[in-house]
Parts: sequence; structure tokens; C-alpha cells
Amino acid sequence: MDLFNLRSLVILLSAVGCCKGQSALPPGPLEGVQGKNITFETIIIPTDVGDFITVSWNFNGLVPVVTYAPKGETFGVGYAGRVSLNSSTGVLKLGPLTAKDSGDYAVTLVTSAAVQRTGTTSLRVLEPVSVVTITSNLNEAVEFNSTVVLTCSAKGSFLMYKWLNGTAPLVADGKHVTLSANSTVLTVAGVFRKDLVGPIYCTAFNKLESDNSAPFNLTVTYGPENIAMTVTPTAEVQKQGSNITLTCSAQSSPAAVLQWIHNGVPLNVIGPKLVLANVVEAQSGNYSCMASNAKTLRYLESTTSKFTVVEAISGTKITGPNGTLVAGNSTANLSCQATAGTADTRVWLKNGVALSPSNRVMVSADKSSVTIKPVQKEDSGEYQCKLTNAVNTDSASLKIVVNFGPETVSVKGESVVKVKEPVTLKCAAVSLPAATYIWKFNGTLTGVTTAEYIIEAAVYKDNGIYTCEASNTVTGLSTAVAHKLFVKEEGTPDDGLTGGQIAGIVIGVLIALVLIIVVVRYMRKKKTPIESPY
Ligand SMILES: *[C@@H]1O[C@H](CO)[C@@H](O)[C@H](O)[C@H]1NC(C)=O
Ligand SMILES: *[C@@H]1O[C@H](CO)[C@@H](O)[C@H](O)[C@H]1NC(C)=O
Ligand SMILES: *[C@@H]1O[C@H](CO)[C@@H](O)[C@H](O)[C@H]1NC(C)=O
Ligand SMILES: *[C@@H]1O[C@H](CO)[C@@H](O)[C@H](O)[C@H]1NC(C)=O
Ligand SMILES: *[C@@H]1O[C@H](CO)[C@@H](O)[C@H](O)[C@H]1NC(C)=O
Ligand SMILES: *[C@@H]1O[C@H](CO)[C@@H](O)[C@H](O)[C@H]1NC(C)=O
Ligand SMILES: *[C@@H]1O[C@H](CO)[C@@H](O)[C@H](O)[C@H]1NC(C)=O
Ligand SMILES: *[C@@H]1O[C@H](CO)[C@@H](O)[C@H](O)[C@H]1NC(C)=O
Ligand SMILES: *[C@@H]1O[C@H](CO)[C@@H](O)[C@H](O)[C@H]1NC(C)=O
Ligand SMILES: *[C@@H]1O[C@H](CO)[C@@H](O)[C@H](O)[C@H]1NC(C)=O
Ligand SMILES: *[C@@H]1O[C@H](CO)[C@@H](O)[C@H](O)[C@H]1NC(C)=O
Ligand SMILES: *[C@@H]1O[C@H](CO)[C@@H](O)[C@H](O)[C@H]1NC(C)=O
Repeated sequence: MDLFNLRSLVILLSAVGCCKGQSALPPGPLEGVQGKNITFETIIIPTDVGDFITVSWNFNGLVPVVTYAPKGETFGVGYAGRVSLNSSTGVLKLGPLTAKDSGDYAVTLVTSAAVQRTGTTSLRVLEPVSVVTITSNLNEAVEFNSTVVLTCSAKGSFLMYKWLNGTAPLVADGKHVTLSANSTVLTVAGVFRKDLVGPIYCTAFNKLESDNSAPFNLTVTYGPENIAMTVTPTAEVQKQGSNITLTCSAQSSPAAVLQWIHNGVPLNVIGPKLVLANVVEAQSGNYSCMASNAKTLRYLESTTSKFTVVEAISGTKITGPNGTLVAGNSTANLSCQATAGTADTRVWLKNGVALSPSNRVMVSADKSSVTIKPVQKEDSGEYQCKLTNAVNTDSASLKIVVNFGPETVSVKGESVVKVKEPVTLKCAAVSLPAATYIWKFNGTLTGVTTAEYIIEAAVYKDNGIYTCEASNTVTGLSTAVAHKLFVKEEGTPDDGLTGGQIAGIVIGVLIALVLIIVVVRYMRKKKTPIESPY
């Protein structure tokens, strides 16, 4: 047994000759974190096959940590419960670590073949990374004006720092954004509104650990900018009484105070909306809004919108002649006026078509009135005046009736009848109002006042001259027309007349026609003459 052991040892020693003195531990130093565990790995070589008889770990040369022997494990003071040892590999786990665990560690391994191996290493216990905090020199920054200095601080050993903007690494350009050499201080000069809303994180790290700060963002006040104003409705001319809404907006943080300005005078209205209800002409003019930011101390005025309030034309009326109008004598004066609004253009129409002026029909220079002097029958009709301005058109119309006549008075009927034959004489006249008629026979009133004079059966004494007198009670004019009737002997054949007789009759009729008397007289001499109503 002893001999065998000795021989094995010799064989082993010669076999591992190449590795004599090799450390049982990998090169160090090791680093661990306070509160965490550390594992001391060992280097196992083939000659180590088989359990170790003893494994002993020491701290700083003399202090025993743990010793394994066939009789069991013994722990150094303060190590029970903090270490675990793998007796087949010699691997030691130690933890939780404290700062006091920093130092040198040595292990001695003895195999069943009585081969002894040793190794030393050192452990550095690092403080954990914690309390990573970003502090800012400002609570609030003004865009372009402020320089923001962010400082990152943390607890921990051998710390290094880096920064994140959102999820991406923060890029320092050395001008606008700069980082101190050790990366703890981030400086943003003339900060922009979006620079610090990433949010920004600071990461503190060492070889073993890293930790992030809470997200940091900083309100950067800015603006006002991009001011815009709208007017609804957009028309440049607005009807009096309508409602106009003006809105104003600007980009600003904090929100801008919006002040309304009318013709350069600030209104007592603050806010994004200016409602002008029931506008009047005095509200015409230039409107703008002024945006101001109390934090940035900047302000901006919108472009100006201009509109004019115009009163709609209403209550248009034509004032016409009061009395009756007589053709050829009366003067008619038509005047067109509105009770509200001012007309820019005035147009006169007669029966729907533009009124054409003439030497009788005169339109005043301002087109407010039309004078017809004297009126004639063709002036009757419907007169319309149209008043227009930028917001509406209003019109009025008036019917004008011109009295005239009688004109073209005529009598139609038989000129020659036989005794017992009927006679119907018809008198006609063009007149407004309709003419009245009286008939005379041989200059004497007959009492007939209809348009027709009827003889049911002619007798000799009906021979003579019949005169129709047509009268117009309004114009006061009368016209008389004579008609000669010849009553022949009963039964006298038509061809019984001698040539001389026929010639006599024809000449008589011609003479009668020549004798037609046109009597014009003024019927109602006591009546006041009809004059122009003006
Ligand atoms: C550290 O080791 C102890 C025992 O040695 C164990 O209970 C604990 O879970 C380990 N901790 C970690 C973080 O591995
Ligand atoms: C010791 O380590 C070896 C190799 O890693 C493993 O197989 C074995 O289970 C470990 N023993 C104990 C008691 O942890
Ligand atoms: C980093 O550098 C700044 C100066 O650039 C210095 O004030 C600060 O103390 C340094 N911080 C650390 C942790 O080294
Ligand atoms: C962070 O990122 C945003 C968006 O990409 C960028 O606008 C901003 O300038 C960045 N901030 C810094 C400090 O670089
Ligand atoms: C960062 O922004 C969020 C919302 O985006 C807000 O709730 C938070 O208060 C801000 N923090 C700071 C420090 O401004
Ligand atoms: C203007 O607004 C008022 C209410 O403020 C409303 O009664 C009126 O009808 C509106 N006028 C017009 C022309 O829309
Ligand atoms: C409105 O502005 C124009 C120039 O934009 C100016 O000519 C006009 O006089 C202004 N009107 C009033 C009422 O201020
Ligand atoms: C920002 O700077 C400008 C000049 O650069 C200055 O007029 C303005 O008052 C500054 N704003 C603030 C809030 O200090
Ligand atoms: C028309 O008559 C009214 C009363 O009937 C009178 O007041 C008015 O002055 C008259 N107009 C004209 C033009 O004669
Ligand atoms: C017609 O009437 C208008 C208004 O009543 C008056 O101004 C004008 O002088 C009148 N014209 C004539 C010719 O009578
Ligand atoms: C009427 O006058 C005609 C001649 O003009 C005459 O022949 C006739 O006898 C007269 N008749 C009467 C009834 O006087
Ligand atoms: C016509 O007018 C004149 C003068 O105005 C007047 O004397 C005459 O009686 C009038 N005639 C009629 C028929 O009204």
C-alpha cells in the first residue's frame, strides 16, 4: 500500500512536472459588489483527479475563512453562513460582501495523492451604484436665452457616467450641447424647447453595475410664434347686424395672452375669440391680435384683417303723384327713398325694363327721382326703383295711370236706309277712363247716352245729321263726330234712282262728311282745372 502510494506519487510528480508551481487560482484581482456574492473559481488540472483531502482558504495571510478536512468543514470567525465550499473543486462562494472583504485570499489544496497546490488572488469590494440623480441649475428655462447645466451624481465606486436622450445616447456637439471630460456635467447653451423633453437620463456605471437616474425633463418656455388670425365670415363687407367671429392662435409655452386690437386701440377683450354680435358701422376697421408670453417676455402681433360694416337697404318706397294724371297736361314726379341704408346704385325700371329717359322723362342727377313732364298715355305702367349697395338690393314699385282721350272717335252704321228698315249707329272712342256718350239729332239732344243709337224702323223724319259726342270726365275733353242718315221712300227700287239723283246723294254725303264738326269744349267749366299734382 505504502509502496503503491509512493510509486503513484512518483509517477504523478513526473507526469505533472511541466505544471509544478502553477497557481490553483486564475489571475486576479477579482471585483465584487457590496451585498452580493463572489465566487472564487479554481483551476483544476488532470492530476487533481479524485477528491481533495484538505482545502483551506485564508484571508490576508492568516485569517482562516474555511477549511475542509475529511473530518468536516470548519469556518473562520465571521464566515459561518457566508461561505460555501465545493470540496471536489475547491471553489469558494462568499457573500454577502462587505467593504471589509476586500483583501488577499489564498487557497491550499491537498489531493489524496498528497500533492499540494496553492494559489492567491485579491478581491476588491465595490460600493453598489445607487442614488443616480440629475440636478439642474434652473427650474424653468427660456428658449434661446437660458443655459441649462445638468449635473449627474451617484453613489458607488469607480463610477463613470453617460447620458441618454430618450432611448438613444445623447450626442454632444461641443457647441450647443457639451459634456464635461468626466461626463458628469451636461451643458445646453441657448436651450431649445425640445432639447430636454427626451426625457433625459443619466447612467452611472462601473465594471460590474449600472444604474439610471429618474427621467428628467425641463419645461422650456418659448414663443409666441406663428400667430394666425381668422375672421368668419371672411367677406370684406359685412351686413350690419350680422355676427362676426375672430379667432387668434399662436404657438407659445406657456399659452400666450391674446389681446384684441381695433384700429390700433386695444379692446377690453383677452382670449382666443372675439365675437362681434350684431355689428354696427362703427365696428368697421382694422382688427389684429397681440400675443404675449409673460415668461419669455416676447410678444407678436398678427397681420391685420379689415372689414366694413354696411347697413342693408330697407323700407324702400316710391313717392308718386297724389292726384290724377292727365295726358299732355300733368307733371308726375316719382321719388325713391329708403328708410335705412345707403344706396350705391339706383336703377329705374318701367314694366320690368330699364326706363329710357327722353325730353319728357328726366332722371335726376342722383337718380333719386324721375320727373315726367308732361305725362302722356304711354307713361302708364308699373315703375320700379332698385337700390343696391354692397350688402343687398331693395326695391319698390308704383303703378301710374295717365288719363287721356277721348281719341279717334268714330261713328259706324248705315248711311242710307229704306223706310221701316232698322238703323244702328255705333260710336267708339279710345279713352281712359272710358268715354261717356251723348247723341244729338240735327243739333238737338236726343237723350240717348249709350254708345249705340238704335232706330228700330226708320221713318222719313229720321233723315238728318246724327252727332255723337264722346266725353272723358277726368280729362274734361270731348269730341263730337257727325253722321248723315238718308231715309228712302219705301219700296223704291234701288235701281230706280236716276243718275242725277245718285250723284246728288253722293255729293250730299260728301258734304255731310266735310261738315263733320269737331267740337272741343270744356265740359265742366266750373270744375277746377286738372293740374300737375306738384
Ligand atoms: C449568496 O450566498 C448565500 C449563501 O452563501 C445565498 O443564500 C444567497 O442566495 C446568495 N446570494 C446571491 C445573490 O447569489
Ligand atoms: C462541485 O462542483 C462540481 C463541478 O462543478 C459539481 O459537479 C458538484 O456537484 C459540486 N458539488 C457540490 C457539493 O456543490
Ligand atoms: C467631473 O469633472 C468636473 C469638472 O469638469 C468636476 O467638477 C467634478 O467633480 C468631476 N466629478 C467626478 C465624479 O469626477
Ligand atoms: C434630444 O432629442 C431630441 C429629439 O431627437 C432633440 O430635439 C434634442 O435636441 C435632443 N436633446 C439634446 C440635449 O441633444
Ligand atoms: C416630465 O414630463 C412629464 C410629462 O411628459 C411630466 O409629467 C413630468 O412632470 C415632467 N417632469 C419634469 C421634471 O418636468
Ligand atoms: C347673432 O348671434 C345672436 C346670439 O348671440 C343670435 O341671436 C343672432 O340670431 C345672430 N345673428 C345672426 C345674423 O346670425
Ligand atoms: C386700416 O389700415 C390701413 C392700412 O393697412 C389704413 O390705411 C387705414 O387707415 C386703417 N383704418 C383705420 C380705421 O385705422
Ligand atoms: C432673452 O434675450 C433677449 C436678448 O437676447 C432679451 O431681450 C430678453 O429680455 C431675454 N428674455 C428673458 C426672459 O430674459
Ligand atoms: C300727397 O298727399 C298727402 C296727403 O294725402 C300729402 O301729405 C302730400 O304732401 C301729398 N304729396 C304731394 C307730392 O302732393
Ligand atoms: C320731385 O320730388 C322730389 C322729392 O319730393 C323733389 O326733390 C324734386 O324737386 C321734385 N321734382 C320736381 C321736378 O318737382
Ligand atoms: C234735319 O235736317 C235735314 C237737313 O240737314 C232736313 O232735311 C230734315 O228735315 C231735318 N229734320 C228735322 C226733323 O228737323
Ligand atoms: C292744363 O294745364 C293748364 C295749366 O297748368 C291748365 O290751365 C288747364 O286747365 C289744364 N288742362 C286740363 C285739361 O287739366
